[in-house]
Amino acid sequence: MLEQLPTFDLAIIHCGEVLTLSGASECPKRRAELADVGLIRDGVIGISGEKIAWVGSETSYRQLGRAKREIDAGGKVVMPGLVDSHTHAVFAGSREGEWEEKMRGASYLEILKKGGGILRTVDATREASPEDLLNLAKETLKKMLSYGTTTVEIKSGYGLDLKNELKILNVIQRLKDETPLDVVATFLGAHAIPKEYLNNSDSYIDLVIGMLPEAKDHAQFCDVFCEEGAFSASQTRRVLEQAVKLGFQVKLHAGEFSDQGAVRLAAEFAAVSVDHLDVIHECEIPLLIESGAVGVLLPGVSHFLRMKEPPPVRALIEVGVPVALASDFNPGSCPSFSMQEMIHLAVRNFNLSASEAISAATINAAHGLGMASSVGSLEVGKQADLLLLDIDHYEQLPYYFGMNHVDKVIKNGKIVYS
Ligand code: NIG
Ligand code: FE
Repeated sequence: MLEQLPTFDLAIIHCGEVLTLSGASECPKRRAELADVGLIRDGVIGISGEKIAWVGSETSYRQLGRAKREIDAGGKVVMPGLVDSHTHAVFAGSREGEWEEKMRGASYLEILKKGGGILRTVDATREASPEDLLNLAKETLKKMLSYGTTTVEIKSGYGLDLKNELKILNVIQRLKDETPLDVVATFLGAHAIPKEYLNNSDSYIDLVIGMLPEAKDHAQFCDVFCEEGAFSASQTRRVLEQAVKLGFQVKLHAGEFSDQGAVRLAAEFAAVSVDHLDVIHECEIPLLIESGAVGVLLPGVSHFLRMKEPPPVRALIEVGVPVALASDFNPGSCPSFSMQEMIHLAVRNFNLSASEAISAATINAAHGLGMASSVGSLEVGKQADLLLLDIDHYEQLPYYFGMNHVDKVIKNGKIVYS
């Protein structure tokens, strides 16, 4: 005799396709595993409280299941909430004029050297009150949620002094408490050399190291922008040595415009993720494997800054780097936070298949935040974070580009957007 299932609080019925992304909560998806989205046709998801209680076929549910409430997905696609593991979402101002200059040929680093770029946003962010910054960021996160992002990492880095870095980290803390999203905080004091230290970046590194103990109360990760015009590998190492001693986990901005050897540091400091990788020499790829880090690709940056070459995505996948996708949402290199757009761009420009891109934007992205035991897939016991999409097949997600396919967002078992 088949046993009746417990009564669920909520069941999502009549899902034409459920993308479970199952089986990769322990280890991220690598190589051919990336192409497996754990598809169940004609599926149902049972939710009890905030958690997923059951995933199975419509036929089994009809025989054995019941729920206090049902939502009819109308034969459409249901998938896990998107995980954006790399953003700079707390800032003031915008930089559209500068982007036009870039499109006419000015380089990112040239603009930075003239005191524009990150430093322009630093000025605006320093001037903004904590309340103003919070309200701006809340608006951003509300829109992110409506585009299907249910977990987001946010970096500090537009303060560049203790007071303003803590102001940003406090805003991130309040976003955790006051929005439905899961918010992960990263301290990126070493994001740019502030104008007070332009010819003295080593002293700024001393200052960043001094900020670490207080930043630790607000942030899980420490990141450094290891780049020409920002910080060298040896300066990056100095920050990370102290950060690791204080208990931070490590992320790195590596190879956005130039290769500074940051991948070696990822192995040295057991980085959880290494992000960008637009410029990575072949000899460094084994080091990336050795580090165990998730390789976070940012196709929005490559697109928005009209970069000449895509990163060596296929080579990374073939040797076994677990790749993830993120938006890098920020006012300079990617003013979009649509993870649906990132999936489109990854297929269009980085040669991923739709299924690989979806794995990279869900379960592998969750690994990039050390959160794969609770988010990133639809499996029993995990948070009920899921999206009802207005498409018939998951391959339509990147295909119908430039639009929002989200019909409903469920976060921790509750509808938070419809
Ligand atoms: O990831 N790389 C450093 N930070 C951002 C750019 C930030 C900005 O331009 O404001 C990035 O591209
Ligand atoms: Fe970034």
